[in-house]
Amino acid sequence: MRRRIGILAAVAAVAALAAFPLLAGGGKAPAGKPAATGIFPYDKFEDDATCAGCHEEIAAQHARGMMAKSYVHGWDEVEYFKLALPHALKEEKVAGVKAGCMGCHAPLAFLAGDIPPKPVAEKTRANDGVACTVCHSITGFSGDTPFNFNWTIAPGDAMQGTRSGVKSPHHGIAVNPFLGTAEFCGTCHNEKDPWGQWVKATHLEWKESPYGRKGIVCQDCHMTRAEGNPAPDAGGAMHADMRTHLFFGAHTKARLEGAVEVELVPAPATARPGDTIIVQANVINQKAGHMIPTGSAEERVVWLHVEAIDSEGKVFHLPVDRKGFEGEDYTISSPGTLAYQDLGEIMGLADFKGLERDGDVPAGDRIYRLPYLDPQGRMTVAQWNTKSFGPDYRLPPLTAVPETFTWKLPKNVAPGPVTIRATVWYSKLVSSVARFLEVPEDEARPVKMAETVATITVGD
Ligand code: HEC
Ligand code: HEC
Ligand code: HEC
Ligand code: HEC
Ligand code: HEC
Repeated sequence: MRRRIGILAAVAAVAALAAFPLLAGGGKAPAGKPAATGIFPYDKFEDDATCAGCHEEIAAQHARGMMAKSYVHGWDEVEYFKLALPHALKEEKVAGVKAGCMGCHAPLAFLAGDIPPKPVAEKTRANDGVACTVCHSITGFSGDTPFNFNWTIAPGDAMQGTRSGVKSPHHGIAVNPFLGTAEFCGTCHNEKDPWGQWVKATHLEWKESPYGRKGIVCQDCHMTRAEGNPAPDAGGAMHADMRTHLFFGAHTKARLEGAVEVELVPAPATARPGDTIIVQANVINQKAGHMIPTGSAEERVVWLHVEAIDSEGKVFHLPVDRKGFEGEDYTISSPGTLAYQDLGEIMGLADFKGLERDGDVPAGDRIYRLPYLDPQGRMTVAQWNTKSFGPDYRLPPLTAVPETFTWKLPKNVAPGPVTIRATVWYSKLVSSVARFLEVPEDEARPVKMAETVATITVGD
């Protein structure tokens, strides 16, 4: 099965509009050069500390988010230096990721031609990640679909922004509606790998969603408006709708909690040992404007765990019923099933058998995922090594995904009330991979997204 992604209609109109932003005080800002490695030295970009001098609050918010850490974050460093870079150096097909990863993760190093960048400990400006001046120098994008950092960029005096009528003592302002569009984010949040696969498609998913159709953009959820002055001590004005820069996502527990809801209906409501009940569960992506999981879906594990607890506290685990679609095995946890064998080949390990495909997810639980398959058809977390996909069984926005659990009440279930509990969990990285690569434990720690209970009564 292929990903359900339609071809994008011409977003070129937006690009054309953005190509010549107006400079505050009249005149046109430069259109910007298409992103390429080696075109701008580091010193063309002021650093975040300079911006923080006046934009203190925005800088503090940005520093907490993952985009400020897109190069220094431990797991990113491991994946680039232990896997992607060595793979690129020995395998012609994926050679492009040596620089390509940095187009999104360390744009300043990419633009400066400092490739591969120095390790984090050497504190070069690669460490700045998606810095203030990266986003605020982007003028538009080339082509008709935003992906693989196909932005155009014009570093220099003018900061690109969406608000007209404001002035800065430090820099010019180019009023550019492009920054208010989802396509702006899509330039880095859609990724096509060397095999031509959409290994990240957050913007494309959004485009097809009810939010995309209504024009509720990424910024509306990830840069929520708040009353404030962006530069209170430098002559800035108060706005009722200042854009925050928190960019919370899967690394923020509070963002994950409640993003999904789960409903439970067991029937019949009373039963005896030996009878069969059917528990229906609906899992709903209530809050995200794209699939859950989205983006780095190759690493994420989202699963539904259902159990029954009788009046004596005995716990019975209910495995999910099969629906019978092609590739369904990938979506039901099966401890002992191995995957990720390509890690062994990339790292040059003889006799590497692979790692547990589903990490610590209990046997029989439903997993909402998109399996990324390597050229040999095995599941991979190396998104750049993806030649095809298994079934897309993730949670689309505002859509209930139904499951059933058929449970034959065992002889030893105690009479009285039985609580059925459904829990949806999210782990950013398959735990088996995290342990193997010695990635900080927090990356794999499960977060509870949703929980609900229902009761049946067991008669004797
Ligand atoms: C000396 C103070 C000062 C410094 C340093 C400074 N700015 Fe500003 N900037 C301002 C003021 C004042 C405004 C206007 C704010 C307002 O009234 O809304 C502003 C506005 C902006 C805007 C909004 C433009 C719009 O129309 O939406 C952006 C974007 C911006 N600055 C980015 C930056 C970045 C990036 C840096 C670091 C390279 C930076 N600024 C450094 C003072 C400063
Ligand atoms: C990932 C890209 C990105 C990064 C990184 C980023 N910004 Fe922004 N910023 C935006 C976008 C997009 C907007 C406008 C959103 C809109 O209007 O819809 C914006 C708006 C602003 C504004 C205007 C706020 C307002 O509502 O008046 C200022 C000032 C600003 N940014 C400064 C900064 C500074 C300083 C940094 C670094 C500390 C920074 N930005 C980092 C994308 C970014
Ligand atoms: C220049 C490239 C670039 C642009 C433009 C960009 N992003 Fe990102 N974004 C990244 C990278 C790289 C990461 C991954 C950071 C990491 O975990 O290493 C990321 C991560 C994120 C996250 C994940 C946070 C988390 O906790 O997991 C959110 C949310 C996000 N971006 C939102 C946005 C939005 C909204 C926009 C548009 C306003 C945007 N980004 C524009 C490169 C970009
Ligand atoms: C209706 C609100 C909404 C809209 C619109 C929206 N998001 Fe999100 N986004 C969320 C929520 C809620 C989460 C947290 C749940 C999750 O991680 O999937 C999230 C998570 C994310 C993450 C983290 C995913 C991960 O696994 O690390 C990224 C990146 C992201 N969004 C980017 C975007 C981009 C880019 C757009 C626009 C193309 C966008 N979002 C549009 C609400 C929204
Ligand atoms: C087109 C832009 C783009 C390219 C190219 C890209 N990434 Fe990313 N990367 C992102 C974004 C955006 C995210 C956050 C997405 C999300 O979590 O939804 C991300 C997330 C990640 C994460 C997970 C971070 C986390 O905290 O879970 C790792 C690791 C990573 N990238 C490594 C790489 C490597 C290695 C390469 C090159 C093979 C690469 N990336 C190429 C944009 C990109």
